[in-house]
Amino acid sequence: MRTAEIREKYLSFFEGKGHLRLPSFSLIPENDPSLLFTSAGMAPLKPYFLGAKPIFGGKEWRRITTCQECLRVGDIENVGRTSRHNTYFEMLGNFSFGDYFKKEAILWAWEFLTDHLKLDPARLWVTVYQDDDEAYAIWRDLVGVPEERIGRFGEDENYWPGGAITHGPNGPSGPCSEIFYDRGPAFGTPDETGPNTGSGDRFVEIWNLVFTQYDRQGPIPGPGILKPLPQKNIDTGMGLYRVAAILQDVEDFYRTDTFFPLIEQVALWSGKPYEGKASVSHRVIADHVRAVVAALADGVTFANTGRGYVIRRLLRRALRHGYLLGLKGPFLHRLAPVVAELLGDFYPEMRENLPMVEKQIRLEEERFLETLEGGLKRLDALLSGLKPGEVLPGQEAFRLYDTYGFPLDLTVEIAAEKGFGVDTEGFQQALEAQQERSRAAMAFEREIFKKGAQVLEELYAERGATEFLGYGALEAEGEVLALLAGDQSLGEAGPGTEVQVVLDKTPFYAEGGGQIGDFGLLEWPGGRARVETTQKTERGIFLHKARVEEGVLRVGERVRAVVDPGRRDTERHHTATHLLHAALRAVLGPHVRQAGSLVAPDRLRFDFTHPEPLTPEELERIELLVNRWVMADFPVTWRYMPLEEAKREGAMALFGEKYGEVVRVVRVEGSPLPGLESKELCGGTHVRRTGEIGAFLIQKEEAVSAGVRRIEAVAGEAAIRFARGILNRQRALAERLSVGESALEERLEKLLSELKAKEREVESLKARLVQAELRKEVALSEKGGLRYAVVEMPGLDGEALRQAADDLVERGADVALVLSEGRAVLKLSKKAKERGLEAGSLFRALTERAGGRGGGKGALAQGAGLDPATAKEALPGLLPVE
Ligand code: SER
Repeated sequence: MRTAEIREKYLSFFEGKGHLRLPSFSLIPENDPSLLFTSAGMAPLKPYFLGAKPIFGGKEWRRITTCQECLRVGDIENVGRTSRHNTYFEMLGNFSFGDYFKKEAILWAWEFLTDHLKLDPARLWVTVYQDDDEAYAIWRDLVGVPEERIGRFGEDENYWPGGAITHGPNGPSGPCSEIFYDRGPAFGTPDETGPNTGSGDRFVEIWNLVFTQYDRQGPIPGPGILKPLPQKNIDTGMGLYRVAAILQDVEDFYRTDTFFPLIEQVALWSGKPYEGKASVSHRVIADHVRAVVAALADGVTFANTGRGYVIRRLLRRALRHGYLLGLKGPFLHRLAPVVAELLGDFYPEMRENLPMVEKQIRLEEERFLETLEGGLKRLDALLSGLKPGEVLPGQEAFRLYDTYGFPLDLTVEIAAEKGFGVDTEGFQQALEAQQERSRAAMAFEREIFKKGAQVLEELYAERGATEFLGYGALEAEGEVLALLAGDQSLGEAGPGTEVQVVLDKTPFYAEGGGQIGDFGLLEWPGGRARVETTQKTERGIFLHKARVEEGVLRVGERVRAVVDPGRRDTERHHTATHLLHAALRAVLGPHVRQAGSLVAPDRLRFDFTHPEPLTPEELERIELLVNRWVMADFPVTWRYMPLEEAKREGAMALFGEKYGEVVRVVRVEGSPLPGLESKELCGGTHVRRTGEIGAFLIQKEEAVSAGVRRIEAVAGEAAIRFARGILNRQRALAERLSVGESALEERLEKLLSELKAKEREVESLKARLVQAELRKEVALSEKGGLRYAVVEMPGLDGEALRQAADDLVERGADVALVLSEGRAVLKLSKKAKERGLEAGSLFRALTERAGGRGGGKGALAQGAGLDPATAKEALPGLLPVE
């Protein structure tokens, strides 16, 4: 049975049992910064286990079924070495949120395996949590599994997440029951007598039924508290590939239909069959390329941190194994279409984003292969300096790793090929020393941070967060709660003092979400302080970084906080940023994701994922779209709502950004294109209507890093100033060229072609000059029966210089030396050669006296750097006497 068929059977089976079938969620967990990648079918559904209402399509669904793509990257080094480990896999699951519980979950699992997949019931074994008599009884009495095939185990085996009671993590969890398939003694070891025994592959876990009824809370490691959830839930996970391997009757999942075509392709390209030690490499490549394609298709880009770093590691490891198989050029991007073919029916983003994925992989491959080459050269040099029996020092292996990204196992592999060992212990020590250094640096930073924070922590406990009034107002009254200078808390601050002012409420926006912090004034009777910028602590206490200009500012003083009106310009740029984001997605595609932004009064900068430069046409379309939004003068509104609701409504959120339970959604009420809208989770300040933006112009577009582009743009007055600047420059140019502005281009064309004509003229004059020079009578001198000539001719390049020398020989010289601005050509006649002269050695003899360098042989030699006067003088002395 093909993998796709198993997937479909599963989903429709559970649909038949009243479940809503949802497509797989992204590998990038939305708004769950605790998770690098989606690693289980239940992960995207976490909120519903905790009590959030699962509303889809306007209806509440307490039963859901999915086939979820997952990525687990905790054990990368073992992938390939065994045929059990992998990173990217698919998990089939059925979920109940406070609806059915153990009995149904167990009976349906059994029904599906035995009736629909037709697995032999006699080969199925099950396990339950040690105290779970209820599940035990269901298996024994309702299903009829004989007692000798039901095992009881502790929290490591039969609690999910494994061992969570003692070791964490916190969150939804519960006892579980697992179903195993017995593949027969041939796959096992003698000590393997049932699930969770022995070290063989005889009993394969195929399905985990989790009875999610607790919220694990408390310290990690624990023991934690198991707080009963408001409802009892079911979370099941069936390993699609393990089941596929059983039903396709193959040894392991690498031989199933969504892996093997990749392995075959690698075998074909490398000429190395899938067998023996080399097969590790085939497996690594097949697994990693699937993971890389899936992650890129979901919007991850290669980077030096976080998700981007994980896929960079995967790509490099795959590439390195390709290298070991003899695939020395980029090849992984050519496997991407194969992956899309194998999985694209179910994960359409793999097809839609294929061109972008291929391109990113190819660029990344090229980049790594270059580094690899640098490392190889260095390693070669190091190895050739070793004497037989010596080992490569660990420090050197570490330097290769650190500067060339050259992995230790590759160093070991290559050194071994040449008969050398590597001091791997020394490598480890060097690595640890480096880690120690960076840990020390980090601890230092934390220490500094803590001190200043203490005062604020106390303040927070007393008064809570600062109230922000700036969504509507630019001015407001507030009371000074604290004055901070460094770690000190001051009672008052006199003129000239730099302080951070904490108010109970403020209209000043604190830097965040890309928008810069507000600046302006604090005024009180008899005094004034200038606020340079505003920031806020994690707790939401606003710090006005100010300098007292007049009077004394005291704690308890009531001040008038006046934001500089330039903030309105910042708002223009902020709303324009949202419109730009939406326009980018509309024009370039949904793979565009915000990767950073800056919103200031005079400009905006927006970084986003996209694999290639934008064309001028794309930029124009994007700019026009934003301006249409502006001209239509739509209202901009915002409201607070629960995060879940905002996501359901499709508000754009930033991945990896932490959001609270309640979020602010900023929305533009209208759009220039049907189906296009701008709605984002955002805490920033915005214009009231898009018309306030005035105008929007893109200034430039450039690369930031692989796969990330940057647009800089201006709105409002800044846009007008920008356009005016260009127009002024144009006018100044026109004046300088004494033409009307409309004739500028014509004038430029004319100037360029005139320039070209002049250049041609100069060239031909030069040539005529040389000709004339050559036609001049040359005085030939003579020595020992050989006629020689030395001529200096400025302005000749290589070919003309040689011609001039030829010419002299034709006109009777036996030895001709032509010099031109440091360059020199020496030419000999036949006769001179017969007399035993040789151009190369004669030229070198010349350079010994006149300096410079050069050489040649037979009748011709050339070089540069000779001092002409000395050369002229020296030549006769070098000719034979008779
Ligand atoms: N969450 C469980 C697992 O990952 C079952 O889906 O195994």
